[in-house]
Amino acid sequence: MSGARKSMERIVALSKRRGYIYQASEIYGGINGFWDYGPLGAQLKKNLREAWWEDMIMNPCGGKLGPNGEPVQTVPLDTCIIQHPRVWEASGHIAGFNDPMVDCRETKARYRYDHLQVYVPSWAVPRLAGFSTQAADGTSPRLTATDDGKPFFAFMADSPSEAKQKKKAEKAHPELTVVLLSSIPEALWPRVLAPDAEKTGSLTAPRAFNMMFKTYIGATASDDAVAYLRPETAQGVFVQFKNVVDTTRVKVPFGIGGTGKSFRNEVTPRNYTFRSREFEQMELEFFCHAENAAEWYAFWRDYRMSWWQSLGLAGENLRLREHDREELAHYAKDGAGTSDIEYRFPFTYPDFGELEGIAHRSNFDLKRHQEYSRTKLEYFDSDRGELLPNGARKGERYLPDVIEPAAGLDRGVLAILCEAYSEDAARPSPEFLKLHPRLAPIKAGVFPLVNKDGMPEISQKLHQELARKFSRTGFIEHDAKSTIGKRYARMDEAGTPYCFTIDGDTLQNQTVTARDRDSGGQERIALDQVANFLSDKLGL
Ligand code: GAP
Repeated sequence: MSGARKSMERIVALSKRRGYIYQASEIYGGINGFWDYGPLGAQLKKNLREAWWEDMIMNPCGGKLGPNGEPVQTVPLDTCIIQHPRVWEASGHIAGFNDPMVDCRETKARYRYDHLQVYVPSWAVPRLAGFSTQAADGTSPRLTATDDGKPFFAFMADSPSEAKQKKKAEKAHPELTVVLLSSIPEALWPRVLAPDAEKTGSLTAPRAFNMMFKTYIGATASDDAVAYLRPETAQGVFVQFKNVVDTTRVKVPFGIGGTGKSFRNEVTPRNYTFRSREFEQMELEFFCHAENAAEWYAFWRDYRMSWWQSLGLAGENLRLREHDREELAHYAKDGAGTSDIEYRFPFTYPDFGELEGIAHRSNFDLKRHQEYSRTKLEYFDSDRGELLPNGARKGERYLPDVIEPAAGLDRGVLAILCEAYSEDAARPSPEFLKLHPRLAPIKAGVFPLVNKDGMPEISQKLHQELARKFSRTGFIEHDAKSTIGKRYARMDEAGTPYCFTIDGDTLQNQTVTARDRDSGGQERIALDQVANFLSDKLGL
């Protein structure tokens, strides 16, 4: 099913039904751009966060050597969501963290200028470029003498407005083409009918909208008490770079990483958790000498791609894409490379959406914080510089370059759920989740075949043993209700990789049935070997 487009509606429904993801504040009608994780979602998210922590911080890259031939060195950091406001001046977020947006004067809705699309008559497309004539009455500029002046219908892809506007557009124009609003000259905007609007011409000209959430520190809401919720975890690392160097034994090249919430007042949050206003990031800032930046960039790009693959995003739905020059962020070093690891989500299909960015940030951030804080942030590298007569090096002072693998935890969970979602009408549960055992929130189900003959006592004992051993990694579920087929089906739908059933044979020969979720295959294993069997399968 990986090549076909899966149904996002069904993935969302299963995620709700099995307690993975809920709308935040749902009983109050929800709040756009905010999502809560239910019991299984919270554990899945924790498992993904911990996989990142293990493979990026505790045992970086699983022991793989870096391009310098040495083990990769990283340390953790946990910094505040609210930083000194000057941090965001230095980082460029106050001046530059803007999205262009347009407002609808009629419905009061706000849209990302670069996301709004428009149905226009196909014949009009070649005439759009360069059109600059304002209509005399200011409402319905005509492209040609035969143009009937009917509206152009704007919509947001994958929203209810898409189908509604398409229907209206098909009535108005015989042949349609979809173009971006940004490719329609503003002189023609009086003809554009915004989503859900009754009258044309209600869209304002685009303006920059800063995406940082503002708050006030202390009791007064005055300008000098303004603070911001961080839009990325990265800046906390740059601000503490000197403390980490001074208080630990790290030596360049090394990384500082962590996970935590970030906040962006996205103009158009959408596509489930993909573009949220509150989300979690997993970011590593890897500091190296500029001379070695290109090789570290390639190292991290390739390792991060293989990491996502190792968690089950291995097929054609995952790709690595190098950025074009025009796409580079303000901090990215020209010519040094920035790439995205992208996943083909059902709502981007057949296109892809960003899961993680790997950027060469040069020394942009350290340089700016050095300038704005007036604190020297240079690193003294005693292994560099000219060779002295005593055999030592003179040393070199420099601001290290940074390679940044920056991943989204919520997007990761979403990609993992989309990839795991499977349908097979022939199975007891026609919808099920093929979650990677390392990530699955329920690691195993333990069942007595029937609720008598001493089976429940044995299954409860096994459940307790497994729960004690595996509770760090996920739940072990005990279920004694309904038929065994229904219990397997419930576990499949929740993504549980293994089930163990105590049956009549257990009483005779101390073996249990071990069932594999993906194949549905069953084998008998010794009761006292279940914990070892599960450890092996989970790779623990
Ligand atoms: N420090 C660099 C940085 O923040 P980014 O590409 O803006 O780079 C990194 O963000 C990752 O954070 C993205 O690849 C994405 O997975 C996640 N992310 C960014 N904005 C998001 C949003 N509004 N909702 C959910 N995840 C988001």
